[in-house]
Amino acid sequence: MAPLLEIRELSKSFGALKAVDTLSFGVDEGEILGIAGPNGSGKSTLFNLITRIPFGADSGQVLFADRRIEQLSDVDITRLGVIRTFQREAVFSSLSCVDNILIAIEQTLGERGKAAEKLADEASEIVGFPRNFHNMPAATMPVFYQKQLMITTAIAQRPKVLLLDEPASSLVEDEIDWVRETILQLNRQHGITIVLIEHVLPLLTSVSKRLLVMELGRSIAVGDPNEVIRDPAVVEAYLGRAQ
Ligand SMILES: Nc1ncnc2c1ncn2[C@@H]1O[C@H](COP(=O)(O)OP(=O)(O)OP(=O)(O)O)[C@@H](O)[C@H]1O
Ligand SMILES: [Mg+2]
Repeated sequence: MAPLLEIRELSKSFGALKAVDTLSFGVDEGEILGIAGPNGSGKSTLFNLITRIPFGADSGQVLFADRRIEQLSDVDITRLGVIRTFQREAVFSSLSCVDNILIAIEQTLGERGKAAEKLADEASEIVGFPRNFHNMPAATMPVFYQKQLMITTAIAQRPKVLLLDEPASSLVEDEIDWVRETILQLNRQHGITIVLIEHVLPLLTSVSKRLLVMELGRSIAVGDPNEVIRDPAVVEAYLGRAQ
């Protein structure tokens, strides 16, 4: 069977820097694919290119459910169910938490009023984002709840593929356990295919079916997570230049 999401020779340069360099891989329906790689290896840029938020690729193809999507608008890609979160907490900080969720629902699903509020409640329930925070200004929320809000907002848009960019960064151990449980629940109970960028390797290896490691915009290893992290090319990418 063809992958649900397929990247073919995707490239993006910033001046002379090849941030993503002829990268190709597929994500199977129902899979959790982990993506690791040193700082600046092109992981977040890859999510930008797939979703066109905020910009698309210079060249290459993105296929979703056998359909080319790299020429679609960011909103149309989102409406197909390819939804991302951001590495830094990206909430509209002047708005209440629930308005953050409702804006996304209106833009992606076209729902307003009571129907939209129901979808926001359902997403909050799935993620465990407390209802009594709904009317608080998003700016006043601690980092953990901003991350929960960002994931709730993503889930409210009914993702088929969820692209999570470092959901565990700046979190403490108990909170990282929550990230792990949530990812597994979204995948197993809600059937969401997940691509997870993380620096927290124990989280990455414990939830991912396969792990892809990037360096300088390219894939240097892909396969079983516990084998990939021992791959000499991967060890070299993380430690080599420091040694
Ligand atoms: N908008 C931009 N303009 C210019 N250079 C950029 C831009 N976005 C990213 N880069 C550069 O592209 C390279 C890849 O950046 P990217 O953010 O994708 O890395 P990353 O793997 O997500 O790193 P990290 O693990 O630190 O989040 C880096 O060298 C970065 O400085
Ligand atoms: Mg990044």
